[in-house]
Amino acid sequence: MSALVLTHVTKRYGTRLVLDDISLELARGARLGLIGPAASGKSVLLKLVAGLEQPDAGTITVLGDTITRPHVREVDLGELRKRIGMLFQSYALFDFLDVAGNVAFPLEQRGGIPAAEIAERVAARLRAVGLAGSERKLVGELSGGMKKRTGIARATVADAELVLYDEPTAGLDPVTTQKIYDLLAADQQRTGASVLAVSSDVAALAELVDEIAFLYRGKIVYRGPARSIRDAPDPLVRQFVRGELDGPLTEAIG
Ligand SMILES: Nc1ncnc2c1ncn2[C@@H]1O[C@H](COP(=O)(O)OP(=O)(O)OP(=O)(O)O)[C@@H](O)[C@H]1O
Ligand SMILES: [Mg+2]
Repeated sequence: MSALVLTHVTKRYGTRLVLDDISLELARGARLGLIGPAASGKSVLLKLVAGLEQPDAGTITVLGDTITRPHVREVDLGELRKRIGMLFQSYALFDFLDVAGNVAFPLEQRGGIPAAEIAERVAARLRAVGLAGSERKLVGELSGGMKKRTGIARATVADAELVLYDEPTAGLDPVTTQKIYDLLAADQQRTGASVLAVSSDVAALAELVDEIAFLYRGKIVYRGPARSIRDAPDPLVRQFVRGELDGPLTEAIG
């Protein structure tokens, strides 16, 4: 069974066609990176997969459940989300909970886990992301990087079967970035989770995932091995990854 199948998925906002007939498959345990210019629809794609938005056309099947209309009525999205770990680009932390409360949330949702075990797992995750000592801080008291790391702790604490990471290290310093990527890679090794990760840090992303897909003008125009992404056969991808100004790519520089 696939972790994820998108079939002919289209998403519009007003007249803007953000995702144009996208088909994509992710095998169980596979790790795929998604890159593309700003506003190309990477976050929208992750939100569709998390069931937070509905596409205008096409079907999306996540861990065996079809979450698009009309099937979505038969699926308990709440139950499905317990099997998914998601880090949002804009954090989406709960303002009414402190750091520890946010990280404990996915474990509490699971039900049946003793409070002492939850506390222990939350503490271990917070140590792993360098937030030990910040347990009782409220979201409003956190820096951008602390919010990001709280989001990472929350997304990874419950050993989800499928993890979706949207810019896991944007705004973090280089050493913290490396630590976070090491943590995400170690988690994936341990749990065998399927990974779909969006990142502008292509070099770091390429160490976490096996393949990288390039989203451009609403389409996945390229999908290939992560380790050789700088030498991808598609000149658009090469230009984007190398950050070159001259070439066929126009979207990235407006
Ligand atoms: N809820 C919404 N309502 C209207 N337009 C939206 C909404 N969400 C996203 N969009 C539009 O969809 C397009 C894609 O947005 P998205 O956030 O997916 O980009 P992205 O590829 O993640 O970009 P970035 O790299 O800057 O994070 C943008 O033009 C954005 O304005
Ligand atoms: Mg985004």
